[in-house]
Order: sequence, then structure tokens, then C-alpha cells
Amino acid sequence: MRPVILAAGDDAAIAIDAISQHAELMASGIVLVDSKSVDARKLDLLPERLPLLMVSGVLVPVSDSMEQIARRIPHAEAVEISASTPPSCAEGFDAFSAVLIDFLERRLPRATPEYRQGSDARTLRDALGCFATGVTVMTAKDAASQPVGLTANSFTSVSLDPPLLLTCIAKSSASSEVFQMAEHFAVNVLHIGQQPTSIRFSRRNEDRFGATPWEPGLHGTPVLTGSLATFECSRHAVHDGGDHIILIGQVERARFEPRRDPLLYFRGKYRRLHFS
Ligand SMILES: Cc1cc2nc3c(=O)[nH]c(=O)nc-3n(C[C@H](O)[C@H](O)[C@H](O)COP(=O)(O)O)c2cc1C
Repeated sequence: MRPVILAAGDDAAIAIDAISQHAELMASGIVLVDSKSVDARKLDLLPERLPLLMVSGVLVPVSDSMEQIARRIPHAEAVEISASTPPSCAEGFDAFSAVLIDFLERRLPRATPEYRQGSDARTLRDALGCFATGVTVMTAKDAASQPVGLTANSFTSVSLDPPLLLTCIAKSSASSEVFQMAEHFAVNVLHIGQQPTSIRFSRRNEDRFGATPWEPGLHGTPVLTGSLATFECSRHAVHDGGDHIILIGQVERARFEPRRDPLLYFRGKYRRLHFS
């Protein structure tokens, strides 16, 4: 596969000159960023089949000349990013990344999409696994005031006023009864370094609390020390959800650390945004 040529500012004119003779052989697509000095006639000569994206407003405000060039090339896709004036680096790059990835996924996908469908349990699980989530450990006290907890990624915010969240716990899990009965529980959102904690709280026969730093929070509910975020809740409602219970909690106290990255889960594997 030939590369996608990406050129910004005045460099775009050089890039277009360099490939103009054999554009289709040399590139599978062209992306020009804030390139108002590029010669529209040369762009017009590029084969229509060659995907061409012209983005303006990434690092300099959108200019009329860029708009005029884009209008003259009917097969080009023209996108204006006007995050703020003048665009800030972070905002401009973020908006540009989104536009670029959308263009690449539509026009130059890495592989031809091959959808799978079905009504069987495997297909359902795999389709649900396409929804990337964070990872939490749910914690509560049992009737003997012993800490209980399990790894759960079925966590969702429900309402801001009143502040409600939910999580779904398998009826077959050893701790489901404790969570149904507990007046209070906590949701501990795990950070990038807490994968061992997630594994520990998802496996049987582990000393979950013995090997994990924790402390008593509101009402003595155990909370995992140093988590990315913790929501201390009172039980708001418990609903039946097939082979799971749907536990809705009212948040009494929320706490978070704004600089750490989350631990993620996607397609049955732990993932990370990047190291920080
Ligand atoms: C990433 C991940 C997410 C999970 N999410 C859930 C969940 O949302 N609900 C659930 O009941 N179990 C979930 N599990 C499975 C439980 O953590 C696992 O069955 C655990 O052993 C239950 O503990 P218990 O039987 O002691 O209650 C998840 C496991 C992993 C690894």
C-alpha cells in the first residue's frame, strides 16, 4: 500500500509538485493542511480516484484562499476546523486528528470491513466487547462487616440530579447477595497501574483485600486506596436484569485524581491509552 502524503503550509506545493506526474503510483491519498499557497490547477490535475482531503484552520485561522482552492477541486473533501481564533495547538491538533481518522477510515480503511452477525451467545459477547470501557472494582461490607469486592466493567452513570449510577452483577457471582443487601457500596475506578488489582478481584481463591491496599470510607464501606476515582454510594434500587442484578446507587461522595490515566478493557483484553 502506498503512503498517504500529508503536507502542511508551504510544503504542500513541494509535495504536489513531487508526485504530480505519477500521483496514483506514489500515493494512496493526499492530505493538505492549511496550504493556501498550493496551486489549484495542479491539484485539479490529480486523478479523481485519489482521495484528497484539504483541512484548514488547524494552526492558522481559516483563509479565503484555501476555501477558494477547495471549491475549484470538486473531488476534494474540504474541512474547516474553527476551534477558536487563533486555534490553540492542542485544540487544533485534536480536531485535526478526528478529521484525519474519519477520512482514513472512510476512504482508505486498513482492511475491508467484514461484519459478523448472529443471535448466538458468542456473537453477542463479541459484539458487546466492541464497546470499550474502563474497569472498576465494586466494594461493600458483608453482614459480618468483612470487605467484599469484585471486578466489574458494567458501570454507567445514570443521573446527575439526583446523582445516580448503576452496575450489573451476575446472580451467579459469590458476592451478588452481599451487594443486593448492602445499604452502602463503593465503585472504585481503576487507573492504568491497577491491572493486577482487576485480575485479583476477578479470580476465585485470591486474597483480594489482603493483597490490595484499602481503607474504610463512609459508613465503613471499603474503598481501594489510590484508585483513579471512587464513588461512595447508598443503595437506591435493585432491579432484576435477567442473569444479573442491576444495582443503582446514589452517590454520597465522589473523589478522583485528574492526572492519572484509566485502565481500559476492550475485546476481552486490558488496554491502555498511553503511559503517563
Ligand atoms: C474486565 C472484567 C469486567 C467484569 N465485569 C463484570 C461485571 O460487570 N459484572 C459481573 O458480575 N462480573 C464481572 N466480571 C467478572 C467478575 O469479576 C468475576 O466473575 C468475579 O470472580 C466475581 O467474583 P465473586 O464470584 O467473588 O463475586 C468482570 C471481570 C473482568 C475481568
